[in-house]
Amino acid sequence: MYLDRLKAFKSYKTETTPCKIKLSSNENPFGLPQWLKEKIAEKVKDIPFNRYPDPNYTELKEVIADFYKVDRENIVLGNGSDELIHLLITVVGDKNQPVMYPVPTFPMYQVSADIIARPKVEFPLDEEFNLQKEKIDEALNKKPALCFYASPNNPTGNLFDENLIRYTADKGVFTAVDEAYIDFADTEGFVEEALNRENVVVIRTMSKIGLAGIRLGVLITDRETATLLDRVRPPFNITYPTVEIAKVVLTEGKQEIKKQIDTIKEEREKTVKQVSQIPEVKVFPSQANFFLIKVPDGDKVHKLLIQEGVLVRNMSHLPGMEGCLRVSVGKPEENQGFVEALKKVMARL
Ligand SMILES: Cc1ncc(COP(=O)(O)O)c(C=O)c1O
Repeated sequence: MYLDRLKAFKSYKTETTPCKIKLSSNENPFGLPQWLKEKIAEKVKDIPFNRYPDPNYTELKEVIADFYKVDRENIVLGNGSDELIHLLITVVGDKNQPVMYPVPTFPMYQVSADIIARPKVEFPLDEEFNLQKEKIDEALNKKPALCFYASPNNPTGNLFDENLIRYTADKGVFTAVDEAYIDFADTEGFVEEALNRENVVVIRTMSKIGLAGIRLGVLITDRETATLLDRVRPPFNITYPTVEIAKVVLTEGKQEIKKQIDTIKEEREKTVKQVSQIPEVKVFPSQANFFLIKVPDGDKVHKLLIQEGVLVRNMSHLPGMEGCLRVSVGKPEENQGFVEALKKVMARL
């Protein structure tokens, strides 16, 4: 009775079929090198597990501020960026004012809005998954308080037109630019604007650059907005182990992360080129650590790829994404395995 409202809810779904080659969750495929793990182990062993971590996360924020070239006062930390998305949806504007976002996009904007029963304005991207000004205008007519733009977008992989992101903010809507995949893109992103405009924030995450397991998201904004948002985040939302691990990886492991990102970008270009030569497969250009393909029968190709030991994310059930599969960039041998498997499957269709 008390939770009847939740009976219609579907939880966030991920692909869990066990497969030899897992290219379904946009993770960094490499993992941390042994020497770095040993440094982490040294730190973790000395954690006072009976104690709460620093409630202000001062040292961790210093390290992250240095990593992103901002000040500690510009940062709000989340237990993954999912928590920051939920926080914004909970506190920005009036709860009766809608949240706007283009579709297809990252599903958590919709999930979080539904959890607190906040109205949503979803507006379509065009056929190549770009923003359309007239659709933004139609959405703005519904008087939204908050807008999310994932750029590069998940699941499509493309960057959005920066001028249209600015346009939305210029109209007075609190604009959250979700830059989960920006490390793989050839652009600086919106950090500079987030620091200087009161209604623009940037959301980043450690999940895509190699630390999905520790759950650490970062919101970057001007000092006043950061102070206010920090007031309402759950206390101790970042665990002690996460603090210690992030501190080591973002300092001593910085070069390693950079190297891995460069390899992922090279592998993306190489794999996209190979896949685009397979007949009847369309590949969309990507600025992320994954890319989207379109095939004649998405469900069937997804199933046959699993039989070949390759797991990708089936997107073909989403509106505007018929036949689309999202493929994360893996290690070189995994990408090669995927290309071979896709060739085989397409030949059998
Ligand atoms: C666009 C986008 N934002 C946020 C997230 C969530 O990241 P986190 O692991 O930091 O919660 C994802 C995860 O896939 C994503 O694709």
